Amino acid sequence: MNPGDPLIDVRALTVRYGTATAVDEVSLTVQPGEMVALIGPNGAGKSSLVNAIMGILRPAGGRAALGGQAALVPEGRHVFPDLSVEDNLALGAWRSRRDRRSRDTAWVYQLLPGLVRVRDQRAGSLSGGQQQMVAFGRALMARPDALVVDELSLGLAPLVTADLTAHLTALNAEQGTAVLLIEQNARLALGMCTRGYVMEAGRIRLHGTAAELRDSAEVADAYLGAGS
Ligand SMILES: Nc1ncnc2c1ncn2[C@@H]1O[C@H](COP(=O)(O)OP(=O)(O)OP(=O)(O)O)[C@@H](O)[C@H]1O
Ligand SMILES: [Mg+2]
Repeated sequence: MNPGDPLIDVRALTVRYGTATAVDEVSLTVQPGEMVALIGPNGAGKSSLVNAIMGILRPAGGRAALGGQAALVPEGRHVFPDLSVEDNLALGAWRSRRDRRSRDTAWVYQLLPGLVRVRDQRAGSLSGGQQQMVAFGRALMARPDALVVDELSLGLAPLVTADLTAHLTALNAEQGTAVLLIEQNARLALGMCTRGYVMEAGRIRLHGTAAELRDSAEVADAYLGAGS
């Protein structure tokens, strides 16, 4: 990776399910240390796009290049319900190509102190917000240069969401971790991120700085609701 190269570099990426095109020649970049929002309605192709970026889905065309380690907080969290929090975290390291320090859960507890109290508890017995915290911690075990979060706030109470966004913002500020944030709450996403993309029906409909998107009439009408 050369200086100035994006950490996530997506070019003309296409994802198909059978004959249905879910992602249609999408291009997107995330620079090191940047926080970028990806917003759009249900079925727009956001998860398909990030799953292709993460190598979980094979694209039908185009490419997604990573200039560092990326880790995914998947939609729906997918913690292992019968394993303890500690074991869920430990499993997050297995794919990491980094040194053995990355198997050390201690620094995740430092970043997410709310997990300390529940470390020996079954993940399936935790609240939705705590499970989301476990999913974050599991992704952080890979010591990623970029964290890809597929739906931060879905199903969570506002206070829990606020706590998670504070952790994410601190992680970005203190560790320089880049973030690609998929979020149904556009106001929240554009408040946290400096840049954003609006995806509709498999395509990038708009992109710009968070301020430009907040000021756009299209975004205001479709995503920010009345009074904005
Ligand atoms: N495994 C699959 N097989 C077939 N079609 C799929 C599959 N996964 C997603 N799709 C379709 O691809 C399109 C994009 O779905 P995707 O889940 O990527 O959207 P999304 O923007 O993440 O939506 P949401 O906001 O509801 O999470 C949808 O039409 C969806 O029905
Ligand atoms: Mg999705």
